[in-house]
Amino acid sequence: MGKLLLVILSGVTLAFLTERTVRFGRRLNFAHEMIKSVDLPNCHLIDGIEAGAEDIDILPYGLAFISSGLKSPAMKSFAPDQPGKIFLMDLNEESPVATELKISPGFDVDSFNPHGISTYIDQNDGTVYLFVVNHPQFKSTIELFRFVEEENVLEHLKTIRHDLLPRVNDIVALGPDSFYATNDRYFSGEIMGFLELVLDLALSNVIYYSPQEVKEVATGFHSANGISLSTDKNYVYVADILGHNIHVMEKHADWSLSPVKVLEFNNLLDNLFVDPVTGDVWVACHPKMWELMFYSPENPPGSEVIRVQNILSENSIVTQVYANNGSVLQGSSVACVYDGKLLVGTVFHRALYCELEKP
Ligand SMILES: *[C@@H]1O[C@H](CO)[C@@H](O)[C@H](O)[C@H]1NC(C)=O
Repeated sequence: MGKLLLVILSGVTLAFLTERTVRFGRRLNFAHEMIKSVDLPNCHLIDGIEAGAEDIDILPYGLAFISSGLKSPAMKSFAPDQPGKIFLMDLNEESPVATELKISPGFDVDSFNPHGISTYIDQNDGTVYLFVVNHPQFKSTIELFRFVEEENVLEHLKTIRHDLLPRVNDIVALGPDSFYATNDRYFSGEIMGFLELVLDLALSNVIYYSPQEVKEVATGFHSANGISLSTDKNYVYVADILGHNIHVMEKHADWSLSPVKVLEFNNLLDNLFVDPVTGDVWVACHPKMWELMFYSPENPPGSEVIRVQNILSENSIVTQVYANNGSVLQGSSVACVYDGKLLVGTVFHRALYCELEKP
């Protein structure tokens, strides 16, 4: 009797693990087909960006901030011994160049490991704030900087840590010291995080933070990644990278979020950028996750850029704007536009600058 029970239990466990492994493979797009390239005519790689441009945010007047040099135990780095950097690019220039921003003394630049970023402009005095998700020693903090434009300096204002912010991926600023942030995994330990992935638990969440109040405002994501606000600031878009979808959520007066709709895709969506002029959502994605996690130059991760128009309406239009098998750009994580220019950043590779054809 005991033996029979054991056989049945082992069978059930094996079936469960097999099913979860298949699901896990599907989440990573293990068997995704070859990438068919979609080229853009006027593109070049940006000089000086060699170790990633994981996230980019652009001010309404065309200054782009680029976070570079992300290091994580699970990913390749082409500059493992160099601290991360923030670059600035003025997209109003004829041939924009990326310049590394200096950081004011007192901030520990050696352990700087920047990830998601978001800008906020104070409407009263025009002060530009830059929020940066940082992973010193692979922990998670949020660094708040003030951008001193005359000197090209980031003045460090404060470091934010919180128990509800254990594994932050991306952030969207709501005010001079408040934001929404995504935790890409619920558990902070590596093993628990891995188990959560394999068991396909959906425990990743979105946190609201202000100095007065910190709370979970949405949960149930496989791995919440990019987060952005609609142009009217009434909606929040969250990319669930392993869920292969974008969640549109309505934002309420108490900062809580309620689901509106979910758009499904067939690849792994990373950061989101909302064009302030058109409201279009630009998404960079990973056609396959495996190549990104286990890097080999012979079989590099590809890149893909998608534009979603009319995301709030019944008739959203999804266009694949760019796709490359990794021969040019590897592991695209963000795509942003300003005045007919497109910037595409990557987790650990380079960044692409394109001039789009005017419609
Ligand atoms: C990527 O595509 C190019 C042609 O567009 C081809 O020469 C190259 O072999 C492809 N690389 C991989 C890794 O598939």
